[in-house]
Amino acid sequence: MEIIIQPDAAAAASLTARVVAKTLRDNPHAVLGLATGQTMESVYIELVRLHREEGLDFSGCTTFNLDEFIGLTPADPRSYHRYMTDRLFALVNIDTARTHLPDGTTGDVRAESQAYEDRIAAAGGIDLQLLGIGRDGHIGFNEPMSALRSRTREKALTPETILHNVSVFGDLDSVPRRAITMGVGTILESRRCLLLASGVEKAPIVAKALEGPITAMVSASALQLHPRCSVIVDEAAASKLQGKAYYRWVFENEPEWADLR
Ligand code: F6R
Repeated sequence: MEIIIQPDAAAAASLTARVVAKTLRDNPHAVLGLATGQTMESVYIELVRLHREEGLDFSGCTTFNLDEFIGLTPADPRSYHRYMTDRLFALVNIDTARTHLPDGTTGDVRAESQAYEDRIAAAGGIDLQLLGIGRDGHIGFNEPMSALRSRTREKALTPETILHNVSVFGDLDSVPRRAITMGVGTILESRRCLLLASGVEKAPIVAKALEGPITAMVSASALQLHPRCSVIVDEAAASKLQGKAYYRWVFENEPEWADLR
């Protein structure tokens, strides 16, 4: 795992977008794993800018999102499907037939979950998986005690996650209680993981996930097992990390990052 500390949230999001852009330029047919949430909004803004101003080409790529709320249609303004349409899919030259999110309206979540896994496998697996992190350490909607080898399935959201989503849904009763999410095991199978976290409120969970023990209580800690995981954090989210000096030194001296710094 490599941990990259950027001065602020904007710089962290911009670097994340540059990694996605480089992945697409190196392989126009890349399979991207996408995430939603507030942290990712600036990444998509930057990717749209790169498309418009620098011709970043999405036409050959395939995408799989991590998760979707159960009960919301793709057109629902609060669905992750709509989030992706409004922030990325409708604004770049992506082929929407190759964009995938779990179907939150399915009558058979088990079958949909298996079909989602099958679609990822048929696409050849995920080349780069973007990830945010919840305050409880979730990646995707893998809430605490998700099995470290879990696959795409239905998960009950924690009260903390439900509360966090009140800002999107307006009131507590409207927030869905369940979601379909890729599992921790599904995420760990992607060829590269890229986690972005910013803001001081993420500092405690970032330190636990990256420097604490691997535990199902903190799903993101499973990323320590991934052979190629990059974590981009701003100074605020990095503020509780012990090894900051070493992480900075590695980043400054790593040739792979030379053209992205
Ligand atoms: C969303 C997702 C979640 C978010 C996480 C952080 O697709 O997978 O794990 O990445 O909840 O959300 P924000 O950025 O809103 O704090």
